[in-house]
Amino acid sequence: MYTKISDSVCCIGTDDLALDLFESQYPVPSGMSYNSYLIVDEKVAVLDTSDAREGAQWLANLEEALCGRVPDYLVVHHLEPDHSAMIAAAMDRYPSLTVVCTQIAARMLPQFFEDENFEGRCMVVGEGDSLELGSHSLRFFMAPMVHWPEVMVSWMPEERLLFSADAFGTFGAVQPSGSPFCRDLGPWKDEAARYYFNICGKYGAQVGKLLDKLGDLEVELICPLHGPMLTDVAQAVRLYRLWSSYEPENDSVLVAYASIHGGTARLALRLAEMLEKRGASVVLRDLSRCDVSYAVSDAFRCRRTVLAASSYDAGVFPPMHDFLWHLQIKSWQNRQVAVVQNGSWSPTAGRAICDMLAAMKNVEQKGETLTIRSRMHAADLPALEALADAVLS
Ligand code: FEO
Repeated sequence: MYTKISDSVCCIGTDDLALDLFESQYPVPSGMSYNSYLIVDEKVAVLDTSDAREGAQWLANLEEALCGRVPDYLVVHHLEPDHSAMIAAAMDRYPSLTVVCTQIAARMLPQFFEDENFEGRCMVVGEGDSLELGSHSLRFFMAPMVHWPEVMVSWMPEERLLFSADAFGTFGAVQPSGSPFCRDLGPWKDEAARYYFNICGKYGAQVGKLLDKLGDLEVELICPLHGPMLTDVAQAVRLYRLWSSYEPENDSVLVAYASIHGGTARLALRLAEMLEKRGASVVLRDLSRCDVSYAVSDAFRCRRTVLAASSYDAGVFPPMHDFLWHLQIKSWQNRQVAVVQNGSWSPTAGRAICDMLAAMKNVEQKGETLTIRSRMHAADLPALEALADAVLS
């Protein structure tokens, strides 16, 4: 099965509906797509392959779309195995196939395919190089660390297509959504954000550089390696500009809590009520019960964050530690944070949280750390009200 984009270009990607964890860490309740594209002209170019889990389906899609033609080129935009697993199989099936990739990718290929002989089978391309296919061409732009060092994207000027590798991707399988094209990111936006902040969040500067580089190109359709093809290019670029700048997307307050026996959770819910009474939009996350990737995405999108946690083993309850560690490695920054700790004998969560925040860039604490003992008591409410004021100040 394949999706026609034009008379010469189609998507031969696959959907993986049985996958539980993408990259063995991100839940994908709606599955995952591994996109791949085919250009048929005087020369035939395959753009990327598939994850091995859907390798057989990808080969079947490719054969069907080729209609008897033989591919000349396999363009490797990104070498991560969710896109490259079928490179050796394609090379074996089509002995005249030339792999087109960056210098770094050429160096890394044997690491993944030690039994394959790449001698004379690779064409290395660099910034601004073109691959002529007949009446169509691809121009390459290097995109290091979006999201590996060997990544490149390509632009087809004749049809104004941007093959964007991991950039502009999303979690979720494509076919069950009803259309492989997406005009309005609306239904995909939350999963596109969760994908962006968890996969590329650390690399905002590199994403910004890529956007600068592509700014003058005429693009009518973005063809990413995951998720639907995007027809509203301006909206997608606007979102990526915002997300890669580490600026918040909205004025909401994320209240993220890690509670052992419910005392801290009750406080978090009460604080959320107080914030809402003051007109704030609140996102509540129980860090013990949601996957951390959702909370990471919320923290990037919300302007303010409240961290409420129990003390544990002379530190902070592990779900909060894990959340903050993820924020730290994703370079979360430029945010305002309030801290609440709970401790029945010697509260230690606040110090542990503040030590982790101190390792982040431009994260400012609003108000003093609020301490409760075992449960929230009536005497704590004035301080909680004051903290709600401080959060929104
Ligand atoms: Fe979709 Fe970085 O691989």
